[in-house]
Amino acid sequence: MSDLIKDLQWSGTITNVTGKQKVASQIAAMVKDGDVLGVGSGSTVYLALLAIAERIRTEKLNILAIPTSLEISMFCAKLGIPLTSTFEHTPGWLFDGADEVDPNNWLIKGRGGAMFKEKLLISSSAVNYIIVDESKMVQKINTNFPVPVEVFPQALLHVSAELRKIGANDASIRPAKGKDGPVITENNNMVLDCYFDNVSDSLERDIKSITGVIESGLFIGYDLNILVAANE
Ligand code: 5RP
Repeated sequence: MSDLIKDLQWSGTITNVTGKQKVASQIAAMVKDGDVLGVGSGSTVYLALLAIAERIRTEKLNILAIPTSLEISMFCAKLGIPLTSTFEHTPGWLFDGADEVDPNNWLIKGRGGAMFKEKLLISSSAVNYIIVDESKMVQKINTNFPVPVEVFPQALLHVSAELRKIGANDASIRPAKGKDGPVITENNNMVLDCYFDNVSDSLERDIKSITGVIESGLFIGYDLNILVAANE
């Protein structure tokens, strides 16, 4: 393997590592020989990958991973977890993180801007596990965390006007970290971070029906198993 990939490290600090490692181990313990796994994004998913890679190494398990982002693809490569794609397989089951989870299991995802692929995999996977620490559990989503909306760049003005019509009181272009300009997603689109007057069960559909919207980070009414890591 190339040294470039071998030396890849998780960027940034992982908060509540002990708690996250516990749910990561729970996920790793569920993996069976022959599984095709949908692999979400974020640090908790990364910790689960470390634990899965250890099982692959010691138990010689044969599994395939369908990643939701380039970053996760590269970590799978580094850890020796074989990759496949949505052209060849649909996931038997999936694990992913989240940014906010409410008592109805409605989610906000997309801090990493990968919500299109994340939603594609959650929608096509038979069983889904969401792994979060307690800090992600909220009474009401979209109070402290924006709903990210991935937008085809030429449709920005149209989409932002339409979002306001369906109750967005704020829709801001997500800026790139540490440099000028907007975040550009892996699909070459931009992200509008939105706050809505009210998040109703039709909002995900209403956002998606706007021409120019690729996907939103709102996940409402999905069949999800939520595994919560206690805070340290
Ligand atoms: C990215 C996501 C992640 O799953 C979410 O941000 C969780 O990250 P972490 O496990 O690092 O807290 O939705 O689009």
